[in-house]
Amino acid sequence: AGHGPVLGVETSCDETGVAVFDPARGLLAHTLYSQIRMHADYGGVVPELASRDHVRKLMPLVRETLARAGLGVADLGGVAYTAGPGLVGALLVGATAARALAWSLGLPAIGVHHMEGHLLAPLLEADPPEPPFVALLVSGGHSMLIEVAGIGRYTLLGDTLDDAAGEAFDKTAKLMGLPYPGGPALARLAEQGRPGVFRFARPMTDRPGLDFSFSGLKTQVLLAWQHSDRAEQTRADVARAFEEAIVETLAIKCRRALAQTGARRLVIAGGVGANRRLRAELAEAGAREGFSVHFPRLEFCTDNGAMIALAGALRLAVGQHETPEIRVRPRWDL
Ligand code: KG4
Ligand code: ZN
Repeated sequence: AGHGPVLGVETSCDETGVAVFDPARGLLAHTLYSQIRMHADYGGVVPELASRDHVRKLMPLVRETLARAGLGVADLGGVAYTAGPGLVGALLVGATAARALAWSLGLPAIGVHHMEGHLLAPLLEADPPEPPFVALLVSGGHSMLIEVAGIGRYTLLGDTLDDAAGEAFDKTAKLMGLPYPGGPALARLAEQGRPGVFRFARPMTDRPGLDFSFSGLKTQVLLAWQHSDRAEQTRADVARAFEEAIVETLAIKCRRALAQTGARRLVIAGGVGANRRLRAELAEAGAREGFSVHFPRLEFCTDNGAMIALAGALRLAVGQHETPEIRVRPRWDL
C-alpha cells in the first residue's frame, strides 16, 4: 500500500550513501563513497572538505543507484535524507539535493534522524526482529540503549556521560599512535593481542543504571601504554585488553536492559556494531541466556544510504513527511 520506492540519501559525516528501498520488494540498490582516504592526511574529518566532496559525489551516486535499481526518477515514491545529527555543511548538501529532487518531482520528502537510520538497519536483513526490542546504538557520536516499542516509539534507557564507544576506540587508537581512522585499526590490532596481559576496568558496571562512561578507560589505557616497553606485541596486548573492557561493559549493560524491560530481542547497530568481538560475545550471551541478537551486515553498521531509505520508507508508510519537528525524548533529539 502507499508509496513506491524511496530514495535515501546519507551525507551526515564522511560517507556519501545513496540507496533505493521499495516497501514491496526491499532494498533494490545502494552505493557508497567513503571520504576516509581524503581525511586521513589530516588525522580526522575536515568539515569543509567533507561538504565539498559530498557536492561532487552525491548526484553521480544518485544516478548510479537508480540505474542499478533499474529505475528512473519517475518511478520513485519519495525521497528520504539524513536531517541530523551530523556536520551542518555536510547535512545541508544531502538535505538540499533531496528536497530539491522531491520538490521537482512532486514527491514527499522526509528528513530522517541519523540514529533512527542506524537503529532500523537490522531490519534490512532476513528474519528482521519484531518490536518490542532493545537496541544498542554504538557509533562515533553515540552510545545509547533504547527500548523500541515500534517505529518511532523509542525510549532512551541509557546514554554515554562522556565519550561515545566509537569515539573511545578512535581516541585510544590515536593515543597509541595508530593512524586515522583508529577504531577499526585498533580492533584489528587487538586480534593479535594476548589475553590477560593487561586488564582495564569495566566502567560503571558495579552500580545500577544503564549509562556509559568511557573517558576514564581511555586514560587508563594511555597510562598503561606509556609505562610499558611499547613493543609491537605490547601494543596489541593493550589493544586487546581495551577492546575486552569496552565489549564486556556494553554486553553487561545490554543484558541489564533486557532484564529491565523484559524484552527478548536485542539489536546492535552503529559503526562499533561492526566489531567482531562485540558481535561474538553478544551472540554467545544470547544463545546462552535465551534472547535473540540481530546485527546489520557489516557494511550497514557504518554510515550508509540503505538505512536512511528504509527509515524514510517506514515513516512515509505511516503517513509522515517533512514534519519540521519530530517528537523528542529527553536528551535524544529524534
Ligand atoms: O556509525 P558510524 O559509521 O558513524 C557515526 O555515525 O559515528 O560509526 C563510526 C565509528 C567510528 O568511531 C569507528 O571507529 C567505529 O565506528 N568502528 C569500530 C569498528 N568499525 C567502525 N569500532 C570498533 N571496531 C570496529 N570494527
Ligand atoms: Zn552513523
